[in-house]
Amino acid sequence: MYKIENKENIAENIFRMDIVAPYIAKSAFPGQFVIVRTHEQGERIPLTVCDFDKDKGTVTLVVQVLGASSKKICEKNQGEYIADITGPLGNPSEFINISDEQLKSKKFLFIAGGLGSAPVYPQVKWLSMHDVKPDVIIGAKTKNMMIFETEMKSFAENVFAATDDGSYGFKGLVTDMLDDLIVNQNKKYDEIVAIGPMIMMKFVSLATKKYKIKTTVSLNSIMVDGTGMCGACRVNVGGETKFTCVDGPEFDGHYVDFDEALRRQMMYRNQEHQANCKCM
Ligand SMILES: Cc1cc2nc3c(=O)[nH]c(=O)nc-3n(C[C@H](O)[C@H](O)[C@H](O)COP(=O)(O)OP(=O)(O)OC[C@H]3O[C@@H](n4cnc5c(N)ncnc54)[C@H](O)[C@@H]3O)c2cc1C
Ligand code: FES
Repeated sequence: MYKIENKENIAENIFRMDIVAPYIAKSAFPGQFVIVRTHEQGERIPLTVCDFDKDKGTVTLVVQVLGASSKKICEKNQGEYIADITGPLGNPSEFINISDEQLKSKKFLFIAGGLGSAPVYPQVKWLSMHDVKPDVIIGAKTKNMMIFETEMKSFAENVFAATDDGSYGFKGLVTDMLDDLIVNQNKKYDEIVAIGPMIMMKFVSLATKKYKIKTTVSLNSIMVDGTGMCGACRVNVGGETKFTCVDGPEFDGHYVDFDEALRRQMMYRNQEHQANCKCM
């Protein structure tokens, strides 16, 4: 059993939880995720390790209520317990294997869409701790759905906010903000990391292909076991079948078949809807 040390409502239907899980906290790296079950018969759901504190032995998860299982986790209160957490799973971000000298020679831009700020945050923090200050675009539908802006500002060189409705920062999509930075503000980037809804990662990758900038995406494919056994999370990358849980979750966005990935993400819509109805 894993204790919820702290729980905070950070935006509408989005909760941040610090969970006591010392072994995971000790071995986690940016880019990795865990699989959580709220109770013994519960569904296994993948969640990004958004932060970890090796001294306190806690990992931070950020959960958005979407359906039955995410609702059950978010109904838990501070001081209560989650049945189990498996991890850290997946590969750490590629840049953690690059020397500090090489990292310092690159200018990174992170693009976080919606909940994507949660997986982007530990990567920006890790780079900053290695004296690399990236730029970050945070995109949200509207001002009160923007998360992690203050935290990101502590570690990034520039944080550019963009909202679809123009209620805060730049008015437009993250791809419009990207075009503005490159075309109008003459910013130069060597590498881009884009994390958010699949559709956003598709259009960011199409845009950066045009600008010839290497782009990494973190895929949120449907997962079941998270260990490469069930095949649920398979994706096509450069004509090869890959499993997001063991080969990813990060891939070169210019080679991902996003249309197939989007179709696979919709596969369980009916079952998800039924589970959601039962849960209400
Ligand atoms: C590597 C990875 C990291 C993720 N990190 C986070 C995170 O930090 N915070 C967060 O809130 N969400 C994260 N997700 C998505 C999260 O796992 C789903 O939102 C959750 O499983 C929804 O379950 P549900 O029963 O509440 O909703 P449902 O009604 O069952 O589904 C809602 C939507 O969630 C997605 N989904 C459902 N089941 C799964 C599953 N088993 N695996 C993956 N996606 C699923 C589908 O797109 C589905 O349409 C991550 C997914 C992956 C693959
Ligand atoms: S979740 Fe089963 S193979 Fe990846």
